[in-house]
Amino acid sequence: MEKKVWYITGASKGLGLALIKKLLAEGHRVAATSRTLPTLIQAVGTVSPDAFLPLEVDLADEDSVAASIQTTHAAFGRIDVVVNNAGYGIGGTVEELSMEEIRQSFEVNVFGTINTIQKVMPYLRAQGSGHIINIASIAGFAGGTGWSVYAAAKQAIIGLSEVLAQDTRSLGIRVTAVAPGAFRTQFLSKESLILSRHRIEAYKDVRNAHARYLSIDGKQIGDPVKAAEALLQIASLSEPPTLLFLGSDAYHRATEKMAQLNEQIEHWKPLSLSTQLAE
Ligand SMILES: NC(=O)c1ccc[n+]([C@@H]2O[C@H](COP(=O)([O-])OP(=O)(O)OC[C@H]3O[C@@H](n4cnc5c(N)ncnc54)[C@H](OP(=O)(O)O)[C@@H]3O)[C@@H](O)[C@H]2O)c1
Repeated sequence: MEKKVWYITGASKGLGLALIKKLLAEGHRVAATSRTLPTLIQAVGTVSPDAFLPLEVDLADEDSVAASIQTTHAAFGRIDVVVNNAGYGIGGTVEELSMEEIRQSFEVNVFGTINTIQKVMPYLRAQGSGHIINIASIAGFAGGTGWSVYAAAKQAIIGLSEVLAQDTRSLGIRVTAVAPGAFRTQFLSKESLILSRHRIEAYKDVRNAHARYLSIDGKQIGDPVKAAEALLQIASLSEPPTLLFLGSDAYHRATEKMAQLNEQIEHWKPLSLSTQLAE
C-alpha cells in the first residue's frame, strides 16, 4: 500500500489514537494534534520523529491551526489525508443548554473542522490531491432523544462534507464524512461528554434516554482499531464514499431513518407539490 502523510486532530485517545497507532505500524507518516502535547506523546509512546509529529493545537485558534499545518508540510513535504476527528458529545435539550455550552460545542465539533479545512486547502490544491475525512456521527443523520445540539453539529459536518466533496472534486480532492455508531472510546467518559448543567424536571424522557446511553459506556460494540482499519481502506481508494456509516448500529439506524424519511416524503407528497404557481 502507498505510504501517505496523515494529519489527525484530537488524537490523544479514542479513535484518533487507534488510528495513529495503526498508521505508524503500517509505515505511514503522521502529524497529530492534541490540546495537551505531553498526553499525546505519552499515549503514542516512543516513535521516530521521522514518522510522527505531535502538535499542540487549539482548534478554535486560526493561527494555531495554520501553524500546525505549515509545520506538518515543512516536516513531511506533503499532506495526503486530513482527519478532522476531534469532537465531543453534548446532551441536554435546547431549552436547558446554555448558549455558552452550545457555542463551545460548535466551536470544537464544527468550527474546528472548518478551520482545519480552510488552512489545509491551499496545500491540497497545490498538490492537486488529498482526502479530507470528517468524523461526524450517526447522530448527525438519525439523532437520538436528548442530543439535539450534538445532532445539529454533526449534521452540519455531513452537509458541509457533501458539498465540499462537490466543490473540490475537479481539484483532485476527495471528501468523506464518516458517521460512526457507538465505539468503545472515552467518548462517554466525564472527561469528554458534556451534559447540560441546568436540568428542567419536566424532561423525564430525556433524563431516561441519557441514563440508558451512559450505561453502555465500556460496552459499546464498535472496535476503534477496526474503525481505524476502515479509514485506511477508504483513504486508499481513488473514489471513496462521500458518506460512510461505521458500525452495524449506525447502519441499522441509517436504514431505519431512510425508511421513515421515504414514508414521510410520500405521505406528504400532495402538500409538497401543492405550492406551484398556477400558469
Ligand atoms: N465513540 C463513539 O461512540 C462516537 C460515535 C460517533 C461519533 N464519534 C466522534 O468520533 C470522534 C472521536 O471521538 P472518540 O470516540 O475517539 O472520543 P474520545 O475518546 O473522547 O476522543 C475524542 C478526541 O477529541 C478531542 N476532544 C474532546 N473534547 C474536546 C474539546 N472540548 N476540545 C477539543 N478537542 C476535544 C480530544 O483530543 P485531545 O484530548 O487530544 O485534545 C480527544 O482525543 C469525535 O468527533 C466524536 O464526536 C464518536
